[in-house]
Amino acid sequence: MRRPVTPLARDALMIETPRLLLRPYMSEDLPLAIKTLTDPRVTRYVCDPMTPEAVEELMPLITRRGAGGRLGMWAAARKDTGEMIGDGVLTPLPVEEEDTDWTSLLPDRYPDHEIELGYMLLPDAWGKGFATEICMALLRFAFTQTGLPEVVAVTDPENTASQRVLVKSGLHPEGSRRAYAEDVPGFRITRDGWLDRTT
Ligand SMILES: CC(C)(COP(=O)(O)OP(=O)(O)OC[C@H]1O[C@@H](n2cnc3c(N)ncnc32)[C@H](O)[C@@H]1OP(=O)(O)O)[C@@H](O)C(=O)NCCC(=O)NCCS
Repeated sequence: MRRPVTPLARDALMIETPRLLLRPYMSEDLPLAIKTLTDPRVTRYVCDPMTPEAVEELMPLITRRGAGGRLGMWAAARKDTGEMIGDGVLTPLPVEEEDTDWTSLLPDRYPDHEIELGYMLLPDAWGKGFATEICMALLRFAFTQTGLPEVVAVTDPENTASQRVLVKSGLHPEGSRRAYAEDVPGFRITRDGWLDRTT
């Protein structure tokens, strides 16, 4: 989708759910990023745990936004306590590459890639339905605020909790596919499929 896009106002990038506030990930979120990406319980099905120094180096990339702000990473905070609990993403899906190509997030266009829905929560926040809340909110955002025809997701074959989150949020399992240079379970939802669920 190589057409130029207009920027979305910053307010429109704030996403409210019944229990959470999501806002674009910022350099100030370094402590959250370190907590998330250095914890082996969190990274178990995603990547090797990182060092705090490596996370700090990654910040300029993971705070990038594409398509007028519409694509990138959001930090999630509980509305009742203000506690930062993790993140949700709409980012370019790597297929034969091992990592997300953050540099393909450019302000004025959509990347050529499929767009991936993802999330990582700190362990204290697990088991409370927060991941599903983030997914449903990002799908609503994707299909009301972007021109994306569909959103995809992938998980580690053993990440059954994440697979359950995706199915609960309306994505359809599509069997094994290539992503992150591996064969992994793939999931997909089209704009029409999302509209059918919500109307
Ligand atoms: C996977 C993760 C996002 C789930 O978050 P969460 O907020 O606990 O998810 P939810 O509470 O919305 O839903 C989890 C669902 O999976 C189910 N579940 C949890 N653990 C499970 C397991 N081991 N096997 C099967 N189902 C499981 C829950 O029962 C729930 O389904 P239900 O509502 O039908 O009962 C969270 O554990 C996490 O961030 N993990 C680390 C990062 C990660 O793996 N991210 C995903 C990368 S693809």
